[in-house]
Amino acid sequence: MKKLLLDCDPGIDDALALALIAGSPSVHLTGITTVGGNVDLELTTANALALREFLRLGDVPVTPGSAGALLPRTVRASHVHGAGGLGDARLPAAERGPSHGHAADFIVETLRAAPGEITLVAIGPLTNLALAVRREPRVVEWARDLVIMGGSFTRGNYNPAAEFNMLADPEAAAIVFDAGWTVTMMGLDVTLTAMVTTGVLDRMRALGRLGRDLLEPAARSYGRVTAEGGPAIHDACAVAYVLDPSLFTCVPAVVNVETAGRYTRGMTVTDFRVGDRRANAQVGTSLNVKRFWDLVLGAYEGVAAR
Ligand code: BDR
Ligand code: CA
Repeated sequence: MKKLLLDCDPGIDDALALALIAGSPSVHLTGITTVGGNVDLELTTANALALREFLRLGDVPVTPGSAGALLPRTVRASHVHGAGGLGDARLPAAERGPSHGHAADFIVETLRAAPGEITLVAIGPLTNLALAVRREPRVVEWARDLVIMGGSFTRGNYNPAAEFNMLADPEAAAIVFDAGWTVTMMGLDVTLTAMVTTGVLDRMRALGRLGRDLLEPAARSYGRVTAEGGPAIHDACAVAYVLDPSLFTCVPAVVNVETAGRYTRGMTVTDFRVGDRRANAQVGTSLNVKRFWDLVLGAYEGVAAR
């Protein structure tokens, strides 16, 4: 059983990543932490709570974290994820509230209690992780692995240079990449190859309430879906990596996050010429798209059948 702690900002593709976890019996979710990102922290937390109940994730704790970036500059993506953060999906509001405390402390204490056992998966801005590293640098040793959705070695999406999660808090991203662990970076280079096609959408639509109330409306509102491909469900790639790393090719690299560039703030400057240096990242470079969708849709079918 793989133990996983998810830091997220739901977020349409965060929701689809959580649904993938919910349908994966080989994974034990030890906690969900939330961060301000796609939308404000109150909404990402409310969405995480609603998803916990809708996906029947039991009593996994949901702990809110940082409302904003380390530097007080707010970047949001509600123009992509909708004002509420889950596109056209309409989930019932949660009956139960979040846990007390701060996400960064939850991350520290959860990793401290099980050193070497828990994989951290971060699919939003890296503010909570940076705060955790600052509070307790040994989290770097205690985490089994760190997998993020973020960055790219070829392009941006929020602007030509930067991917959203990196741009939303470049200082935090720089702290995380420089902390001493090896960051598995699932960036736009791989996530943009896993597109929601009309065929995928048809299979989502067939999944009863899960398809009707969450998957299909969320995915459709994330972007135009065509037979060739529509939006990518970026965040699900990070979870898919934990479930089956053999879906991906990863290459060691030295990644530096640009924090000062006038046009390149948030860029993940990726150097594959590692030489004598320590590679601080394993960078996803390709994905077996067919096997990815088999895994993801199979997991969704498992959730729907419950
Ligand atoms: C990433 O940014 C967010 O908008 C998505 O949820 C994903 O984590 C893609 O660039
Ligand atoms: Ca996200």
